[in-house]
Amino acid sequence: MDILNRLPEKRFEELDDLLAFISIYDDELRTQRYFELLEAHCADIQGSVCVELGCGLGLMSERLAQLGARKVFAVEHNPHLFVLASEKLQTYSNVEVVHADARTFRPSESVDVLVHEFYGQLLYDEELYVLDQLPWRPHLVLPNEGKLRAGLTSAASMTDEVVTPAVVRQLEGALVSGLFDEDNLPLQFDVATWQWGLGLALPSVVDLSGRQGDLLYFGLEVCHEGQLICRAGTCSNWSYAWTWRAAQRFRLWFAQGARAPEACFEWQF
Ligand SMILES: C[S@@+](CC[C@H](N)C(=O)[O-])C[C@H]1O[C@@H](n2cnc3c(N)ncnc32)[C@H](O)[C@@H]1O
Repeated sequence: MDILNRLPEKRFEELDDLLAFISIYDDELRTQRYFELLEAHCADIQGSVCVELGCGLGLMSERLAQLGARKVFAVEHNPHLFVLASEKLQTYSNVEVVHADARTFRPSESVDVLVHEFYGQLLYDEELYVLDQLPWRPHLVLPNEGKLRAGLTSAASMTDEVVTPAVVRQLEGALVSGLFDEDNLPLQFDVATWQWGLGLALPSVVDLSGRQGDLLYFGLEVCHEGQLICRAGTCSNWSYAWTWRAAQRFRLWFAQGARAPEACFEWQF
């Protein structure tokens, strides 16, 4: 969904975000896996104070209320999603929908459970950093881990008449999502990990020596306590990112962007 007409910049951004974020609900498997995670922690949620940072349309906050939370703060900074979540959650007297930025939101009570879905395509290129800077400490974070994994395959096995190996070679240095179907291609090794309380762990250089394949791909895994919750490709909300393998070693890092960290990538020749 793209907005095709000119709008004031702020309105454009807010509506563009609204359209981007409602499209995550096309990924029913993601929603189901998150519900299963919440249900598995039913005993922690019952009678507790919960916060959902970035509540979107409010589905997870609704499930927290249904699972018996004493109080749920559903925090959303997008004004349109805030209105939609408020409408959806208005019948729950124990849910307070808060129009605030997660970075500045301060809960009025001590928080037992924090729920979020702040994972970017490349793990740390959306809002996970907000959790690393939280000045308040929930007892339980759901989910509390994530991984950026990668693999190699041969470009010839993936390309077609349009996206030929020659086209792929032109993409050197660019990480492109949605270029090919993941087709059950396995994620073979970890590139970066994120853990609640520990933050992002990322080696300064990743060495591909000894690995076969001229097409490099990356995929996200959302995990909790070592258990896989969602995987890129399987959960359509995240897709693999692809690039031509131009060398044996690469660097990946995240730099401060205007709104969220931006992924930076370069080959080491
Ligand atoms: C990927 S969606 C997840 C929505 C919901 N948690 C779910 O799982 O269905 C991320 C949501 O976080 C919101 N968001 C992103 N950054 C935020 C911030 N700094 N403060 C508050 N909300 C934020 C977005 O507007 C969006 O609704």
